[in-house]
Amino acid sequence: MTLRFTHAFIFDLDGVITDTATQHLQAWHNLALEIGVPFDPQMGEKLKGLSRMDSLELLLAGSKRHFDDRIKQQFADRKNAAYVQSLARMSAADLLPGALDALQAVRAGGWGLALASASKNAMTVLDRLGIAHLFHHVVDAARIARGKPDPETFLAAAQALDVFPTRCIGIEDAVAGVQSIRSAGMFAVGIGSAEVLGAADLVLPDLTALQPEALLRRLP
Ligand code: BG6
Ligand code: MG
Repeated sequence: MTLRFTHAFIFDLDGVITDTATQHLQAWHNLALEIGVPFDPQMGEKLKGLSRMDSLELLLAGSKRHFDDRIKQQFADRKNAAYVQSLARMSAADLLPGALDALQAVRAGGWGLALASASKNAMTVLDRLGIAHLFHHVVDAARIARGKPDPETFLAAAQALDVFPTRCIGIEDAVAGVQSIRSAGMFAVGIGSAEVLGAADLVLPDLTALQPEALLRRLP
């Protein structure tokens, strides 16, 4: 049996391909104001990459009040409705600089290309951006038991592409995401500031600087 791909590139979505990280944070901030729990701006980086319920738990941890599971579900639904509404006007114009070129370069090189997002809205976002067809595999966040920083999301992508984790490069903007990639045994590219993403193998300011072939030369 021949393997389909020698190597693979596994991208996060929110904050890497499009600036939805800001929209997620805004929706959490609004919910915090509505329900009267504190929102520490420092929490922004910690919320990035966490699943919807893990994000809510982190938000509520800053409050002394107790909320039962039914109320928590209502809060999560409320935040999601606001977030989904903010996607309505999204289009290809919302791709971050270098995103389309980076994805197309991976395809042109013949390597595997997967999406490993924690978002259950990932397919909607990919469709709105007009890039869903570029991916060989999109991890279904609803089927992930342990969200980032656990490695499960990235490992699920590697498994679907049938590529060993050590031959995969993960690309992330979140601290939890970089941790997920590293504990999956993959090479981690952080997108953002080196101060925040110091655990990554390489940090780039955005995807314009991503050169797939040069990155593969850095693999062991
Ligand atoms: C991640 C975002 O990609 O998806 C998080 O970085 C978000 O901020 C998570 O909480 C889950 O998204 P959703 O759309 O399923 O609520
Ligand atoms: Mg992200």
